[in-house]
Parts: sequence; structure tokens; C-alpha cells
Amino acid sequence: MGSMKINITTALVVLSVFTLAQAFGDNAEKGEMLFKKKGCIACHSLGTEVTNKAGPSLANVTKTRELSWLKRWIKNPNSMHNDPEIKKLRATHPIPMPDSHLSDQEVNDIIAYLKTASEKSLKKNDK
Ligand code: HEC
Repeated sequence: MGSMKINITTALVVLSVFTLAQAFGDNAEKGEMLFKKKGCIACHSLGTEVTNKAGPSLANVTKTRELSWLKRWIKNPNSMHNDPEIKKLRATHPIPMPDSHLSDQEVNDIIAYLKTASEKSLKKNDK
């Protein structure tokens, strides 16, 4: 009986650590859900194919951009009209990206998702 009790305690500890990590860590799965729910997907592809979507492909964007720049941009695109990189993108994407009113955690989750999506598309390209 004694060892049974320890097992249950261990299971509960493991479970709560897992739940805490889910609650406080950046969560790519939540990011994927937000990417769809917030409409990012309507304007952005994640692959390297050329599309006629209003925004640029986000394939590998977590590699080509600084994390702090990405956070600032996704959180508050209206604050970056004068950013030189955004000005370059505007030349080929004339409709500016709207503010999606995301929390800091939502921004972090989306970036976690963009990171895993980049890794997948890189693997695809390697083949
Ligand atoms: C209505 C279309 C539209 C929506 C919706 C949209 N974007 Fe954008 N996005 C753009 C455009 C256009 C640009 C290029 C910069 C500009 O002109 O505003 C851009 C640029 C970006 C960039 C920078 C790309 C690079 O090459 O550096 C990232 C990252 C990004 N968007 C992420 C998102 C995320 C995350 C969401 C959802 C929360 C989102 N976008 C929603 C149109 C959109």
C-alpha cells in the first residue's frame, strides 16, 4: 500500500509540473490555434511557395528577424510604420498589417509556433 501512495503522489507532482509548464511556458500549439483564430493565416503562408496572400510568407521568419523585433511587430504593428524593414516590405505588400490586439503571452505563443513551423519547412526544403 505504501508504494502505491508514493506512485500516486509522484503522478500528481508530474501532472502539476506539466500543467504549470503549459500554463506559463510558450506554447506552440496554442500559437497555432491563435494563428488561425486571429486571422494571421488569411494573410500569411508558412511555406516557401509564392502565394497571392496579402502578407509575406513567414517561413523562417524566426531565423531572419531578431526576437525582440518580431515581438514588437506582432504586438503593435502600428508603432512601426517608420521601421526600415517594414518600409521595405510595404514596397511589395501595400496593405499594412492590422493590429490583432494580442497579449504578450499570445505573441510569445505565436512566435513559438512560427519557430516550429520554420523548422518543418526547412526540413522539407532539405529533401
Ligand atoms: C490583413 C493581412 C494581415 C494579417 C491579418 C496579418 N498580417 Fe502579418 N503582415 C501583413 C503585411 C502586409 C506585412 C508586411 C508589412 C506591412 O506592410 O505591414 C506583414 C508582416 C508580418 C511579419 C513580418 C514578416 C517579415 O518578413 O519580417 C510577421 C512576423 C507577421 N506579419 C506576423 C503576423 C501575425 C502573427 C499575424 C496574426 C496575429 C498577422 N501577421 C496578421 C499582413 C497581415
